[in-house]
Amino acid sequence: MKQKLLIIGAGREQVPAIERARALGLTVLTTDINPAAPGAALADHFYQASTDDAPGNINIARRAGINGVMTLSSETAVPTVAAVAKDLALPALSPRSAMLATDKLAMKDAFLRHGVPTSPYRRIRDINEAHDFTVEHGFPVVIKPAVNSGQRGTSRVDDYTGLKSAVRKAFAHAPDQRVLIEVFVPGPEINVTAVVEDTQSHLISISERVTAAPPHFGIAVAHAAPAHLGTEDQAALRTAVQRATEAIELRDGIVYPQFIIGPQGPCLLEIAARIPGGFMREVALGVSGIDLIDVAIAQALGEREVLKRTTQHDIVDGLVVRFFTALDADRLKSRPDKQRLAAVAAMPGIQAVHWQLDRADPIPTLAHSGARFAAIIATGENREQAWARAEAASNYLLGGSDSSA
Ligand SMILES: Nc1ncnc2c1ncn2[C@@H]1O[C@H](COP(=O)(O)OP(=O)(O)O)[C@@H](O)[C@H]1O
Ligand SMILES: [Mg+2]
Repeated sequence: MKQKLLIIGAGREQVPAIERARALGLTVLTTDINPAAPGAALADHFYQASTDDAPGNINIARRAGINGVMTLSSETAVPTVAAVAKDLALPALSPRSAMLATDKLAMKDAFLRHGVPTSPYRRIRDINEAHDFTVEHGFPVVIKPAVNSGQRGTSRVDDYTGLKSAVRKAFAHAPDQRVLIEVFVPGPEINVTAVVEDTQSHLISISERVTAAPPHFGIAVAHAAPAHLGTEDQAALRTAVQRATEAIELRDGIVYPQFIIGPQGPCLLEIAARIPGGFMREVALGVSGIDLIDVAIAQALGEREVLKRTTQHDIVDGLVVRFFTALDADRLKSRPDKQRLAAVAAMPGIQAVHWQLDRADPIPTLAHSGARFAAIIATGENREQAWARAEAASNYLLGGSDSSA
C-alpha cells in the first residue's frame, strides 16, 4: 500500500513539497486554514485545519492513518508536526525540540547552556524594563516577540525615544505576551541550512542575507551565495551550528541557523527547525545539489542516513535571490504581464521569476517577510555575476530597459 504523508500547510511555499511527495508515489494529505490554498487541489486529500491547530491536525492524522508528517516554511506548523508525530508515534522532532526552536527566550537560554554565542538578552514586561536593559547594555537594541517569525513585531531601537513604540509593537505581535530585548549586533548576516542526522549537523548552504533598513528591520531583500567568510569564522560557525542543534535537542531534522558575523565572530540570532521559506530551499539546492524537500520527506518517513542517499543535482558557483517589496514601488513603472515575465525568465542566468501579486492587489506594506511580492533567482559563475544578472533582470521586470539586450 502507498505510504501516506501529511504535509501541514498548503500555501504557496508548501506546493513544491506536495508535488514532490506525489511524484515519489506517496499519498499526500495536506491541511490548511484556507480551503483555497494553492496546495489544496494538488494533494490527494485536503482537510481544513489551521497550521497551529494541534488537536485538529491530530484528529485528521488519526482518522487517515498516516506514515509520516512534516512541514516546510511555516513556523507555526513546527509544534503541530511535533504534536502529531508524538500522538501517532511517528518520526519527527519532539515537542520539546519544537518549543526550543520556536520560543526565542527558551532558545537563547539553551544557547547559553550549550556555549553557543548569542547576543545578551532579557525578557521585558514593559518599557521600564526595556530602559533598564539599555542602561546596562547601551543602544542600539532589538526588541522582538519571543514567539513569532517573519520579522513580525521586530524593531531596532537606536535611542530612548524609540523604545516605547518598539515595545508596544512587539507586544502587539506576541501571541503569548512574551517579549525580549537584546543587544544589536553589527556585521554581515549569514544564513545557514543544515541537515541533522543522528545528532550530527551537516552544513548544506552558507549564504549572505541582505536586509532592508529600519523601519523594515531584518526583512531580507536578497540572499547571495556563496558567502564570503574567513576560515576562522567558518570554523566558529560550524561549531556553533553543531552546538545549537544540541541546544534544541534535535536528533534528526533540518535546521536554519541565522548568524551575524559580529566583532567577536559568529553570533547566533536564532535557529529554526524546518526548511526555511523565502527561496532558501532553492539557495541550498543551487549551491549543494541537495534538495532539502527530499531530505525532509525521507526523514518524515523514518529513513536513516538520508543525506548520502539523496539525489545529487547540478550545482552552481553563484546564486542570488532578489526580492521585490514596497521599496521597489517607485521604480515599478507598470505591472509586468505574462510576456514580460517570460522575457525576464529567458534572460541570461535567470533560474526563476516569481510574481505573486494579482492585478487587483495593492502593493503590501513591508511589515513582515510575507509582504515581499516577487522574486528573481539568478545564477552565475560566481556570486558577482549572479548579482549583476539579478540586477539586469530586475530593471527589466520593473519596466526599465533590458540592459543585457
Ligand atoms: N540582535 C540582533 N542584531 C542584529 N540584527 C538582528 C538582531 N536580532 C534580529 N536582527 C535582525 O532581524 C531579523 C529577524 O530577527 P530573528 O531573530 O531572526 O526573528 P524572526 O523569527 O522574525 O526571523 C534578523 O534576520 C536580523 O536581520
Ligand atoms: Mg529569523
